[in-house]
Amino acid sequence: MTAAPAAAHAEAPAGTAATAARDLFRDLTGSEPAGVWSAPGRANLIGEHTDYNDGFVLPFAIQHRTAAAASLRTDGRIRVASTFAAEPVEVALDDLETLFPSVGSARPVHDLAEGADVPEWAAYPLGVAWALRALVPAWAAGTFAGVDIAIASDVPVGAGLSSSAAIEGATGSALNELWGLGLDPVALAQAGRRAENEAVGAPTGIMDQMATMLGQADAAVFLDCRTLETRSIPLGFAEAGLEVLVIDTGVKHAHSTGGYRERRESCERGAAALGVPALRDVTVADLPRAAELLDDVDFRRVRHIVTENQRVLDTVAVLAERGPRAIGDLLVASHASMRDDFEISIPELDTAVDTALAHGAIGARMTGGGFGGAAIALVDHALVPAVSEAVRAAFAGAGFAEPHLFTVVPSAGPRRDV
Ligand code: GLA
Repeated sequence: MTAAPAAAHAEAPAGTAATAARDLFRDLTGSEPAGVWSAPGRANLIGEHTDYNDGFVLPFAIQHRTAAAASLRTDGRIRVASTFAAEPVEVALDDLETLFPSVGSARPVHDLAEGADVPEWAAYPLGVAWALRALVPAWAAGTFAGVDIAIASDVPVGAGLSSSAAIEGATGSALNELWGLGLDPVALAQAGRRAENEAVGAPTGIMDQMATMLGQADAAVFLDCRTLETRSIPLGFAEAGLEVLVIDTGVKHAHSTGGYRERRESCERGAAALGVPALRDVTVADLPRAAELLDDVDFRRVRHIVTENQRVLDTVAVLAERGPRAIGDLLVASHASMRDDFEISIPELDTAVDTALAHGAIGARMTGGGFGGAAIALVDHALVPAVSEAVRAAFAGAGFAEPHLFTVVPSAGPRRDV
């Protein structure tokens, strides 16, 4: 891929996912959907792994969206189809209970139920349908009609841009309206997180779902993950002549396994040793005591969370006082902390960040859960082609796979497209 002017990357073709979802729905059912709903992916500006520590995050929704075309059906069954799977999956609504049995019993999808073969992608939309039950007691009385859902997405998968939260947001929005549930965006975000934690088995926090559900154009979502209070923070990137360049390494990550869970456990050990409910309650001034109580690895994990929370608060303050050109150092410090203390970066991400900075980016950091995925760089509009070229050259020189580069725009949350 050659460097193209930033504007060529800035907007995904409007309605691409919605059109694809509607086409798939027609193929699936032979009829028009009752509606098409979509929800965005997200990039995280700063605040990584702080969400499950009751801390602060500052993500923004992006222009890439996932769409769900859906209609009610009368036989009490739910059927989901997706453009990224050959076969639809169909179950009786009443069988969702068996597929996803109980609170806190997250387990691998292939173990979900005897004889059931639910591919992982289908656990997201089916899990959302199941999670809505807990919020709506009427489900137990059997008042919900069945539903057909066809899903299409232009959110890159495995890039750390929350393609999963976008599926959850689109599905939740569709079911909320078709079933007349009247749930607010926060309740739908909580249903999405529950699907992810308990139906899919990924022990993630609430950041992605809240970013998807509450995103606004030109703004980030400042979220207190303890209270779920949010504030919309104007970013002013376009006005300042800045672009957010995504450097997708192509290295896939999965948060249902391995490192993500281990980091979470380190944080829980740290909070327990310090006698607090969550690392949110630890300040920079407490770190010397933490160093005495914890082994080196757990201490560094704690130090990342504590300093990252402070960096989120600082970023919000700096944006308001000095504007987006002044946040670069905070982004760079965040990346160093993830690389050295939390140890969730990979050589590709470090190369992306270092090269972007060396070629004029104002700030850069990996975004999302880590172990793969993407970095973001805040770059002057005119420098996007040069930074992109430099990153590609650095990747080629290091023998890494070619990265995928594109710009993202802080964008609005869910909507009904059709
Ligand atoms: C993933 C999870 C989020 C959050 C980030 C790291 O995206 O889904 O809940 O923990 O990693 O900040």
